[in-house]
Amino acid sequence: MRRMVAEHRLHPAELILPAFVREGVSEPVPVSSMPGVVQHTRDTLRKAAAEAVEAGIGGIMLFGVPEHKDATGSAGTDPDGILQVAIRDVKAEVGDDLIVMSDLCLDEFTDHGHCGVLDSEGRVDNDATLERYAEMARVQADAGVHVVGPSGMMDGQVGVVRAALDAAGHQDVSILAYTVKYSSAFYGPFREAVASSLRGDRKTYQQDPANAREALRELALDLAEGADMVMVKPALPYLDVLHRVAESVDVPVAAYQISGEYAMVEAAAANGWIDRDAAILETLTGVKRAGANMILTYWATEVARRLR
Ligand code: PBG
Repeated sequence: MRRMVAEHRLHPAELILPAFVREGVSEPVPVSSMPGVVQHTRDTLRKAAAEAVEAGIGGIMLFGVPEHKDATGSAGTDPDGILQVAIRDVKAEVGDDLIVMSDLCLDEFTDHGHCGVLDSEGRVDNDATLERYAEMARVQADAGVHVVGPSGMMDGQVGVVRAALDAAGHQDVSILAYTVKYSSAFYGPFREAVASSLRGDRKTYQQDPANAREALRELALDLAEGADMVMVKPALPYLDVLHRVAESVDVPVAAYQISGEYAMVEAAAANGWIDRDAAILETLTGVKRAGANMILTYWATEVARRLR
């Protein structure tokens, strides 16, 4: 009876797997703060993508970890950079059976670890960064990505990326806008996963956890600039924001269950303090109930298998 009357249920197609691929490694490298998650080799990434198709999930979100980082994040716009190579690999493996998405941000590629380029005083330069994002959008689209995910939180990024894609003949590439992205302590494990060199924080461009109304302003701007889908991130500490966003738009809404949310459950479960499998489904169901149409989660493939 409970199954029949349930108001919300999870489905594999709405799950998106974030995946890391690291340049120059011959074996996958475990991410210690995210038990079960690795930095893939090109080869194991292809396998993970094939498994994702097999499990019936909707998409994969790719993050590249380059061998060399520099001040402008040049590996991020190199057509042969690791992320572009990975997009081509995964597209060759899955074709259109899985929606292939890419993180469009400089932080994995800069030696200072910020999401943009810096000015002479070491501050993130919003408008100079937008030019880098336009270039990134072009190379990722040239590599065949279906959806780009601008996550750097620069003002105007969605508009610039849309214009760059259209001008390069990539009208069909969609934008999943990281619309509401809070400056969160829960990104900690991700920064290990991408070998981030960030010192300091991202408070000048990510949002203050104290603010919810501000999220609606970000939302209005992203939609006006051409976002096809919008995202709220992190998920669990911001279910109220997710709910407000979902209530006020008519585009698909995604939520990103981030690295720290994953790590909390895995760590508690490893200590025998909670029922891991039940906790995973409960968190995902909560995110769905709050209004997400799609959920990015490091458990995507595992959960999809369990749902079948
Ligand atoms: C920025 C980016 C971040 C995440 C995804 N894209 C992190 C950040 O702002 O430091 C975090 C994802 C996670 O924690 O799982 N490119």
